[in-house]
Amino acid sequence: MTPDLFTPSAVPAPDDAAIETLRRALHEHAHRYYVLDDPLISDAEYDRLFQQLQAIETEHPELVTPDSPTQRVGGRALDAFASVRHALPMLSIRTETDTEASGAEAFDARVRRELELDTAAPPVAYVAEPKFDGLAMSLRYVRGVLVQAATRGDGEVGEEVTQNIRTIGQIPIHLSASVPEVLEVRGEVYMRRDDFESLNDKQREKGLKTFVNPRNAAAGAVRQLDPAIAAQRPLSFFAYGLGEVTPPEQGGPFFETHFELLQTLKAWGFPVSDLVQVAQGAPDLIAYYESIGRKRDSLGFDIDGVVYKVNSLALQWRMGFVTREPRWAVAHKFPAQEQITTVLGIEVQVGRTGKLTPVARLAPVFVGGVTVTNATLHNEDEARRKDVRVGDSVVVRRAGDVIPEVVAVLPEKRQPDAQQFTMPLQCPVCGSTAVREEGEVDHRCSGGLFCSAQRKQSILHFAQRRAVEVEGLGEKLVDQLVDANIIRTLPDLYRLGLTALASLARMADKSAQNIVVALEKSKQTTLPRFLFGLGIRHIGEATAKELARHFGNLDAIMDASEEQLLAVADVGPTVAHSLRTFFDQAHNREVVAQLRACGVHWEEGAPAERAAQPLAGMTLVLTGTLPTLSRDQAKDLIEAAGGKVAGSVSKKTAYVVAGAEAGTKLDKARELGVAILDEAGLKDLLDGDS
Ligand code: IVH
Repeated sequence: MTPDLFTPSAVPAPDDAAIETLRRALHEHAHRYYVLDDPLISDAEYDRLFQQLQAIETEHPELVTPDSPTQRVGGRALDAFASVRHALPMLSIRTETDTEASGAEAFDARVRRELELDTAAPPVAYVAEPKFDGLAMSLRYVRGVLVQAATRGDGEVGEEVTQNIRTIGQIPIHLSASVPEVLEVRGEVYMRRDDFESLNDKQREKGLKTFVNPRNAAAGAVRQLDPAIAAQRPLSFFAYGLGEVTPPEQGGPFFETHFELLQTLKAWGFPVSDLVQVAQGAPDLIAYYESIGRKRDSLGFDIDGVVYKVNSLALQWRMGFVTREPRWAVAHKFPAQEQITTVLGIEVQVGRTGKLTPVARLAPVFVGGVTVTNATLHNEDEARRKDVRVGDSVVVRRAGDVIPEVVAVLPEKRQPDAQQFTMPLQCPVCGSTAVREEGEVDHRCSGGLFCSAQRKQSILHFAQRRAVEVEGLGEKLVDQLVDANIIRTLPDLYRLGLTALASLARMADKSAQNIVVALEKSKQTTLPRFLFGLGIRHIGEATAKELARHFGNLDAIMDASEEQLLAVADVGPTVAHSLRTFFDQAHNREVVAQLRACGVHWEEGAPAERAAQPLAGMTLVLTGTLPTLSRDQAKDLIEAAGGKVAGSVSKKTAYVVAGAEAGTKLDKARELGVAILDEAGLKDLLDGDS
């Protein structure tokens, strides 16, 4: 393989040599992707190359060869697994190039044309499904017993991976329903995002290489030669179709529609996604594309688009296939969740507690629906493990709620003189020594409040919406105030006068006035917000609320012994020690006293009675938009009543509170039989009415 094979930007002129180069590149990339699980370019880049070739071949059909990548499915069986010839070939789906909603219209128009439907004919019924981002699998059952599982391979011949597939809990190895004599179920093996994250955590703990994305991790697990290792890799499965099945005339099943087929698979014990829907005509397909697009980030697994299929099996039969793809189905892709970009620099940022974080500055790249310009490298160990260097080409991934990450470096593209990253020995902001304590992964600036970066961050932390909330006090303003030495400590905030503010560059009188009003307003706060706002290490919002509830007032917290602190739910030795250390420092007490003297106040009370709390010991999950309460308000109310709010539904969830546009959490609640409430129900519960 020559390096220039991987230069995707070359647009080949339609001559034999250029086409051949493009084909060879596509073959090689397909091989790396499907067979080696080690892609060099992003999926989007591959699609682009593929479409380039398709475009040339459409214009010059005389140049099409039978072995062109457009004429077959990529990938070949690895020698280590037995080869399986598929009874019916495993096909691919045509990708609608247009990522806008109109891709659905183009498909619908094509279907209507091919079925010779005139404009007066009613809408065509489709099934719309997520396009799961895993790997295709064919499961063969004979008299209800799983006898063989095979990967797609090149579509004709795949690999026999039965042993590994048997370890997937979601795949039945024995069907109890009365099923056809021969039954091949086709679907996607994939890895859930949370399973992927914990697998990578384990890999890191063991000092092993992490996986780039759930799809690669799933492919690696399926094709793991040792089934014992495969069994430790948590995989999942969704069924979406059939292969060979005993025909109706020999006692096999008869289905009218694809949807009916999927419902039957579900009844037979196969996981079928609840997101699958029947759609009438293009408008429904567009609505589906948009609604799944909105849900994409909150799903528990990666999808790379949606798939539209003609619902009637008779119509599917009429439409038939072209070489590699059925005419009755199309994939409509979402923006890619992975892209390749260049590292422009690696900067070290200083956080509120002095933590030094290396951050890769990236050439702007559109990934997972947003433009990404930087990605955290977390700490020295992580930066070393990934070995990201300035000038490198890197794969950036942004999927789900997870912040953008550099998941891999393309070593082939590295400049020979690229330098390995090392953590600075001094704080890049104040020059104090940077220390990494034993057993810790982080380096910290030892400058404390001498370090202007730490001062800025602690002021921003105190002023944020979830703490005392000073509206309009943002990063730029704090930079100015600290750099000009107008503010050194938190209480200085409340000593800010209009004149000092208005004297700052680019500050209009009106804005200065607004800040003064916002500061005044922030003085009336709550104990948990104030406590959280102090920025004590390890004291998050939840712990602050728990402490406030337990002790009732600040003086009690400041004077509590570590032992007394340990009596609070959720408070362990680290938190107790951190609190004690903080309030043992005279200057911290002084800051609190001065803030109070400046007029910062809250309602104080007596310690709470645990038993009086209607939601004590319960965990609730919020989903969707409630009619009157915001997410934060609902959370505050639940926590004030002794309950906890979790992000995901499990058997331990007491209630799921669902509003409009509720997502998969609601489905999960139904699946697990967890009680579901609306806002009114929540209010009754808070009042102790149920
Ligand atoms: S149907 C005849 N449905 O996409 C059509 N495929 O390029 C056969 N995929 O390798 C496939 N989600 O692994 C179908 N809901 C879905 C799918 C799906 C993901 C994958 C499948 C196939 C590839 C097609």
